[in-house]
Amino acid sequence: MTARSQLTFPRWMAGMVLAAGLAQGAAAVAADAAAANAVAAAPAAAPNADQITRGAYLAKAADCIACHTVDPAKPFAGGYPLATPFGTIYGPNITPDKETGIGNWSDEDFIRALHNGIDDEGKHLYPAFPYASFTKLSRDDVLAIKAYLFSLPPIPQKNLENKLPFPLNQRWILAGWNLFNFKPGEWKDDAGKSPEWNRGAYLVEGLAHCQECHTPRNLTMGVDLKRSFGGAQLGGWTAFNITPDPISGIGGWKDEEVVQYLKTGLVPGKASAAGGMAEAIEHSLQYLSEPDLKAIVTYLRSVPAISDAADKKPRYAWGQAADDDAELRGVAAVSVSSNAASGAELFSGNCASCHSASGSGVVGGYYPSLFSNSVVGARDPGNLLMVILHGVQRRGKDEQTFMPGFADHLNDGQVAMLANYVVKQYGHADTPPITPEQVKVQRQGGPVSPVLTLLPWGLGAAGLIVLFILFSLIMRRGRRPSKDDPAAS
Ligand code: HEC
Ligand code: HEC
Ligand code: HEC
Repeated sequence: MTARSQLTFPRWMAGMVLAAGLAQGAAAVAADAAAANAVAAAPAAAPNADQITRGAYLAKAADCIACHTVDPAKPFAGGYPLATPFGTIYGPNITPDKETGIGNWSDEDFIRALHNGIDDEGKHLYPAFPYASFTKLSRDDVLAIKAYLFSLPPIPQKNLENKLPFPLNQRWILAGWNLFNFKPGEWKDDAGKSPEWNRGAYLVEGLAHCQECHTPRNLTMGVDLKRSFGGAQLGGWTAFNITPDPISGIGGWKDEEVVQYLKTGLVPGKASAAGGMAEAIEHSLQYLSEPDLKAIVTYLRSVPAISDAADKKPRYAWGQAADDDAELRGVAAVSVSSNAASGAELFSGNCASCHSASGSGVVGGYYPSLFSNSVVGARDPGNLLMVILHGVQRRGKDEQTFMPGFADHLNDGQVAMLANYVVKQYGHADTPPITPEQVKVQRQGGPVSPVLTLLPWGLGAAGLIVLFILFSLIMRRGRRPSKDDPAAS
């Protein structure tokens, strides 16, 4: 649950402030308000069973439940905390409860939220809600999602106030962010491409919002479309490069392997899914139909390849079986890690029971091999450290995948010693040594974006801009000629 909550938000929040620093935001606010007034509340057409079934599938593909549910017994009732270094944004109640949920929302209100990131009162929603992707959904699909949500029992549960400091708590500054990073508009099929490609694009770019995690952010923290799917950092995890590049991306995977990964989270000899990807698979991707998964792959194969010259081999192509038991002969199996004098001992005591002494895992891959494993072979050891610290949790339709985390059991020095051993045995020979400081950073949710270090300045600048706008409004009011003023005419 927490992996997603640490995702992109801190970074776009910083960007939001920077973007809002440009005063055009104010003009956009006025335009939005006008658009809000222009929307007429159309009476909702009665939903039918087909529409609800379709909506249920679409809501799964869009992973609505992930950010709108805390207690699985109260689906969509909100309260899910999206943590940022400055405060918390809560996913609201989107059940049809009239008091605390969206029971009073018209079709047009709901469409405007998903297509434009604006709520029923005309206020901007934070882009933690991926409306920048959902804007691509067709009206029909949005209405099917609404029909599905409104077919569920209303659950009364009050929304929690977001905990954000000034000026981040000023929703109007989001107009500034939108100006730079949001292009509204439904997906339009490309007639020159196959129906499968178009369906894949709709899923990847819209419903399943893959870019929100896999594409790095620009200076104003919108997704950087020049580096689409090129890999991005999220709260300590790297959502890898998934472009067709054979070395840096997933060009070396067979199509069926990508489908299998999205469906199950595990492709023996290639990769398994932890962190935010495990969540996306658990709540969403595993439920997609075979044709939809294939369409996703078809589309992904067509995006521009992005390569990094520092990558020498594909992530999954590193390492081989290696057994240090001989070296360890005479050393008791280390159950008390504090006594361990080497990475080999730590490995033997904490990891070998599942991944085997040679690192080959078990046949069939429930305990995967540590060589030919994209997390161990990645140039950046961040995901390996996250897996050691937090383990792997993923619920499939009929099975559960579980690796314990060692965050409470091993200190930073021990995790570094162990990770260095794992990388040396099964990963890159030339990876620079992992330090305890690096482990500490990963424990705290990964390296801080350089943009965040600008935030105090951004906050100051935004504060000044707010003061300036207030001041000029007051000045203007002061100068507005009164009716009695002869100079007014
Ligand atoms: C990555 C997390 C995430 C996903 C996925 C997500 N939402 Fe949200 N959603 C949020 C957050 C956070 C907010 C509140 C933003 C704010 O306070 O401005 C929100 C707000 C909303 C609102 C406005 C509610 C209100 O009371 O103002 C609606 C409606 C909504 N989401 C519907 C959906 C639907 C439908 C889906 C799936 C198609 C979905 N969301 C998927 C995070 C998410
Ligand atoms: C919530 C964030 C998130 C979303 C949404 C997401 N991913 Fe991922 N993805 C990740 C992370 C994090 C990893 C790394 C997982 C790991 O290390 O175990 C990953 C890994 C992958 C991999 C494995 C790459 C490798 O070399 O191991 C593939 C393939 C992939 N994602 C495809 C997709 C596709 C396709 C979508 C959209 C349908 C998607 N992802 C949506 C976060 C996300
Ligand atoms: C109780 C059994 C168990 C133990 C102990 C264990 N693992 Fe795992 N490990 C797993 C399982 C299960 C998976 C996930 C397989 C899947 O994704 O289907 C996994 C996955 C991994 C992965 C791949 C993660 C990814 O996202 O691709 C790495 C790397 C890993 N383990 C390293 C270690 C290390 C290092 C240790 C010792 C600190 C360790 N494991 C201890 C069971 C275990």
